[in-house]
Amino acid sequence: MKIAIVGAAGRMGRMLCSLAEADPALEVVARVDVADGFDRAWPAGTEAVIDFSFHSAVPGFVARAAAEGIAYVIGTTGLSADEQQAVDAAAQRIPVVQSGNYSLGVNLLLNLVETAARTLGAGYDIEVVEMHHRHKKDAPSGTALMLAKAAAAGCGEDLDKVSVFGRKGMVGERPEGEIAIHALRGGSVVGDHTVMFAGDVERVEITHKAQSREAFAAGALKAAQWAAGRNPGIYTMRDVLGFA
Ligand SMILES: NC(=O)c1ccc[n+]([C@@H]2O[C@H](COP(=O)([O-])OP(=O)(O)OC[C@H]3O[C@@H](n4cnc5c(N)ncnc54)[C@H](O)[C@@H]3O)[C@@H](O)[C@H]2O)c1
Repeated sequence: MKIAIVGAAGRMGRMLCSLAEADPALEVVARVDVADGFDRAWPAGTEAVIDFSFHSAVPGFVARAAAEGIAYVIGTTGLSADEQQAVDAAAQRIPVVQSGNYSLGVNLLLNLVETAARTLGAGYDIEVVEMHHRHKKDAPSGTALMLAKAAAAGCGEDLDKVSVFGRKGMVGERPEGEIAIHALRGGSVVGDHTVMFAGDVERVEITHKAQSREAFAAGALKAAQWAAGRNPGIYTMRDVLGFA
């Protein structure tokens, strides 16, 4: 299958190119990036595009893929509401897979977190903590938001109504039902996430630690192969893995 990688010069882009080059079922026909020596567009005949670039780059590329009828896999996080609208519009015409995390482990975690939140109930305070390398530009991570959303779903809540991002000053006692999200940055950490359920007599912690970007890149390549030729719509990695 002929694929194009957008953001090909970046940390994820390089990993995607090297994994794809080693896979006889895949042919990388364009390495798209603003960096010197990279392609600025993909050629006719491209069957799927994988985008791990920068939030502001996504609307233009996904619109072009929609015009050409090419499947689009989005790993890029930190999209604004307008940028997300452009993705949703494109998904009316092409299959789009969008996930804040393409690893098998984190997608399993989403199910575990939802089950834990539903089972443990209101007596357990939920805190989500993530840590990433010092170069990461958006916070909190897309994965932390997905995990918080899964926890909220398990509680039967809407995350927007119960979430808080970090704490500072005289914030008062913790209200029941709050879901707090905290972002740590430093060093070369690929991606650590913990969802904590803190009760009066015990504490449950569910943790995922990515040891290599290969965990995300392998999932995104699988998503591209799954998406090509599907009906238009927005899909998640849980759809690709059959977890949804
Ligand atoms: N969904 C996941 O599983 C997952 C995993 C890791 C990272 N990410 C996300 O993927 C994105 C990239 O992460 P990274 O660590 O590789 O970042 P990075 O900064 O190393 O790479 C991003 C690349 O995109 C390129 N770029 C920026 N604007 C562009 C444009 N207009 N056109 C073409 N290329 C452009 C940059 O030049 C750079 O080479 C981030 O949003 C990150 O949060 C997602």
